[in-house]
Formats: sequence, C-alpha cells, structure tokens
Amino acid sequence: MNDPWQECMEHCVEVTKQAGKMIREALQKDIAVMHKSSAVDLVTETDQRVEQLIISSVKAKFPTHSFIGEESVAAGAPSVLTDDPTWIIDPIDGTTNFVHRFPFVSVSIGFTVKKEIEFGVVYSCMEDKMYTARKGKGAFCNGVPIKVSGQEDISRSLVLTEVGFKKDSEQFATMMANIKTILTIPVHGIRSPGSAAINMCLVACGSADAYFHMGIHCWDMAGGAAIVTEAGGVIMDISGGPFDLMSRRLIVASSRAVAERIAAQVTEFGVGRDDADGS
Ligand code: IPD
Ligand code: CA
Repeated sequence: MNDPWQECMEHCVEVTKQAGKMIREALQKDIAVMHKSSAVDLVTETDQRVEQLIISSVKAKFPTHSFIGEESVAAGAPSVLTDDPTWIIDPIDGTTNFVHRFPFVSVSIGFTVKKEIEFGVVYSCMEDKMYTARKGKGAFCNGVPIKVSGQEDISRSLVLTEVGFKKDSEQFATMMANIKTILTIPVHGIRSPGSAAINMCLVACGSADAYFHMGIHCWDMAGGAAIVTEAGGVIMDISGGPFDLMSRRLIVASSRAVAERIAAQVTEFGVGRDDADGS
C-alpha cells in the first residue's frame, strides 16, 4: 500500500533545507533581538520569516492541512491539536543559541494525523545534520540509520536538560534542585546544549542517554519525538505516565529503566498546557 504521507514528508525535508539555508545566511548578518514573554524569551525577524516560508510553501501544496507554528501562536493563532493533518513547526528551535551563534540551532517539524505523530524532521542547520523519521520506518541522520545507546543504567548515563532562568522563584528552585538530585545519583554528567529538538536527536543517535524538561512546547517536541521513538528510545511524561504532546513536559531516554528512574527522582512543577485555551 502506498504511504499516504510520503509526499508530505518529502516536501517537509525540502522546505526544511530551504529554511536552514535562510538561517545560515542570517547568521552572517547582524541579528536584531526582540523579546516575547520575558527578557530571556528571545525572537528575531528570522524566526518569523522562516515560519512564513515554511507555512506558505506547505499551504501551496497541501491547502487543507492545519498548522501550529510557534510564531503564529505568538501572534495570536490557536494552539489546539485536532484530528486534521497538522504541521507543528518551530522555525528556529534554539533562538538563544542562534542569537549567540552557539552551534546548535534547528528547524523542527512534526506532522500529526488524528493527533498521532506520523513523521518528524529536525535539521541542525549549523552542523548540516538532517534528522528524519517516519512512523514504523526508523530514524536517520543524513540518510544513515541511527539508534539510541540502549543504556539501562542511570549511573552510566549522560543526561541532558535545560538550565535557564525562571521568573517563578519556586519553579526556579525546583529546577535547580532536580539537577542536583540527578547529578548526585550520580550520573556521568549533565549537559545543556539545546535546542530541545537537538537534545532529543542527541539521545536518538546515542550521544546522550536521556533528556528531561518541564516547560517546553509542542513545537519543540513534535519533530524530535518521532526521531527518538523511531531510533528505539522511550518517551514519557515527566510523571512516568504516557507522553502527551500538548503537556509541555517530557522525558526521553535510551531505555525504559533510565526514563523511569528520572521520573521517580524529579519533582514536578506546574507549567500549564499548550492547548489550555482551546481544548
Ligand atoms: C527553546 C529551545 C531551548 C529550550 C526551550 C525552548 P526556542 O525553543 O529549544 O533549548 O530549553 O524550552 O522553548 O524558543 O528557541 O524555539
Ligand atoms: Ca523557536
């Protein structure tokens, strides 16, 4: 049987390459930084231009499809996942890295149908690494199959998370305490390269063994979720329950044992949902 979403995935890879080229060109020029929800929530004209490029290109080819794009949502578009074929787009995942020319900047796209992720594409455009995964067909980096490390022992694991300022002092304290708790298991180390999508791809290709985070968004997770799952990884909610794309929280890991150990160790804090206003 023909794959009904193959053409979408091929188009996704093509437009993601164009987006990556636009980002690399922008890196050669001055980058004007604007702010969204706080002084550390950065956005640039390139984020907006890249999202426009992707959405207009996809709309021209697949006019009935739906979109959840980070910058469209920031401009007031709804952030609700429906059963429609839906492109979940982060035009620049890692805007802080982009602004500082720290070399982990990605374009991240996940495609859902009936709320299930069908494929994911993450292009780490400064490294020129194109990660792709189609449900049931494995995960690849530049066309070469990738898989997770398979590590089952947390004390031999390299763990990724985000270390960033939080306005809410209780959340900030809990985030820092969680890092201390994981470090003192002990694990081999904690790293925080970002972007969220690249963190997931690093677990997918076995360069790290786990990644946990509370406070990210569906557009940070959708592409990477497909890639890490197809690479043999485990994805779950921070509580240890099933992963929920709109929940703003996740653990990905090389094995269920490592993911469950992280779920058991970390303290949760409330981050709201991406679909809080519309579900
Ligand atoms: C952010 C990056 C960052 C992660 C944040 C994300 P953005 O995405 O992925 O690494 O820690 O939670 O929101 O804002 O650069 O698209
Ligand atoms: Ca972004």
